[in-house]
Amino acid sequence: MYLTVRMPDGTTHRLEALEGWRVMEVIRDWGLPIKAECGGACACATCHVWVGEEWVSKLVPPSGEELEMLDGAFQVDARSRLCCQIIMNKDLDGLEVELAPESLADMPEPIAVGG
Ligand code: FES
Repeated sequence: MYLTVRMPDGTTHRLEALEGWRVMEVIRDWGLPIKAECGGACACATCHVWVGEEWVSKLVPPSGEELEMLDGAFQVDARSRLCCQIIMNKDLDGLEVELAPESLADMPEPIAVGG
């Protein structure tokens, strides 16, 4: 199954996902720069994504804890979720999410090649 992620710079990435994986883990394990500071404990809101509108109703609704954390995020709307709380299953094959800018991790500085 696949997950499509749109990054704040507008690039999109189609990532293979496995059943039972958290969307945050799929994004992180494929090497895309997601902050996800608490590692998936629903305690940071730095894994905020906007879910494609047609997918919102297919997801398990957010828990009270998730809603509380989302309260502290920026640009929250009806499509906002913490992607560490979305667990991939067959019904979510093709899921589309957009990473919120504040969830983007700083990229390491490129190593300068001396010349
Ligand atoms: S990684 Fe911290 S709330 Fe999702």
